[in-house]
Amino acid sequence: MRGFISLTAHPAGCEHNVLKQIEYVKSKGKFKGPERVLVIGASTGFGLASRITSALANDAATIGVFFEKEPQPEKTASPGWYNTAAFTKIALNEGLYVKNINGDAFSDEIKQKTIDLIKTDLGQVDMVIYSLASPVRTNPRTGITYRSVLKPIGQAYSNKTVDFHNGNISEVTIEPALQEEIENTVAVMGGEDWELWIDAMKAAGVLAEGVVTVAYSYIGPAVTEPIYRKGTIGQAKDHLEKTADDLTARLTDISGKAYVSVNKALVTQASSAIPIIPLYITILFKVMKSKGIHEGCIEQIQRLYADKLFNTGEVPVDEKGRIRIDDWEMRDDVQTEVAEVWEKANTESIHHLGDLSGYASEFRKLFGFGFKNIDYNRDVNEMTGIENLV
Ligand code: NAI
Repeated sequence: MRGFISLTAHPAGCEHNVLKQIEYVKSKGKFKGPERVLVIGASTGFGLASRITSALANDAATIGVFFEKEPQPEKTASPGWYNTAAFTKIALNEGLYVKNINGDAFSDEIKQKTIDLIKTDLGQVDMVIYSLASPVRTNPRTGITYRSVLKPIGQAYSNKTVDFHNGNISEVTIEPALQEEIENTVAVMGGEDWELWIDAMKAAGVLAEGVVTVAYSYIGPAVTEPIYRKGTIGQAKDHLEKTADDLTARLTDISGKAYVSVNKALVTQASSAIPIIPLYITILFKVMKSKGIHEGCIEQIQRLYADKLFNTGEVPVDEKGRIRIDDWEMRDDVQTEVAEVWEKANTESIHHLGDLSGYASEFRKLFGFGFKNIDYNRDVNEMTGIENLV
């Protein structure tokens, strides 16, 4: 482990992780949803869960776009590579259509490659999931590279944070972002690239009548507000949410609809890198588990599809038009307890007040480690390839 990343990933562990998600969606039964689905950011986190739910709970053909490192003789691949290898193998065995594109989704080249593939193989898609999380984006039109920052706006913010590897709680102060940093973060994580994707696909005629496109957002409680929703990333999420309205307007002629779904805070590679958030998640997990309402990415996305997007009635949205699957996280009883625990949390108490071991274990599992039924002493083929990589 180096900071927020593991330098290695385990192919069999990643496969197990995918299998468990597949078992979960299968246990919940099938539903009727879109049959041809493009997932942008399909290899880890919410995007992977979206692909698994589309394919295994609804028999959809899926095209996955992601940016992962392939294995080298001296170095394992990144976890999303092994996740995709496992997903592809299983989905193909089930007779499903699966194609994969590994490359920079922000580029024109990858957009065109995806459009060409859709034209050749599927004709059109009925759903586009946009689930990218990246610290950097090069705008294909200008060639300018932007880097996002995770900072408060206006004034410095100090609060507690945890090193989830050892439970040490310390005070951090994060200096406010410069105006340019705010703009750069919006350029990376806002809705501009989502818009470029949808515009390019619509112009190419590969969006089906009634297409649905969904991007993921986050809100969170007061304690994370200065660093998240009212910070630089929050500005990007505001932009993403506004983009949904713009896209819906532009899709009217094909009866299409763009949604933002506000998801729950979860352990993913993206969220582990945000200061303060890991302590919040550690406490949140403990509270939600004690109430029997804890969910991971797959439980969240299965619920999004089955209860919100593709139930038979209207899609339920909040006053800003957003789908809320953070509804259980944001429940008053949950947030009141989290706030109480937050006040008491320190290096001594966090081991019993928070779910530190749950956080650390979830984090290791992202890379395929820590599964009891995987024998980590056995040799595995780290050169595992991805089938149907275009
Ligand atoms: P993640 O880090 O697990 O997944 C990111 C995905 O994007 C991966 O498939 C990766 O390969 C792909 N990707 C990154 N850069 C790329 C590029 N240049 N080209 C092609 N693919 C690229 O992230 P996570 O957490 O699943 O986040 C997805 C979305 O969900 C983000 O918008 C995030 O803000 C949002 N979200 C995350 C929450 C969390 O707690 N993790 C909570 C609510 C929303």
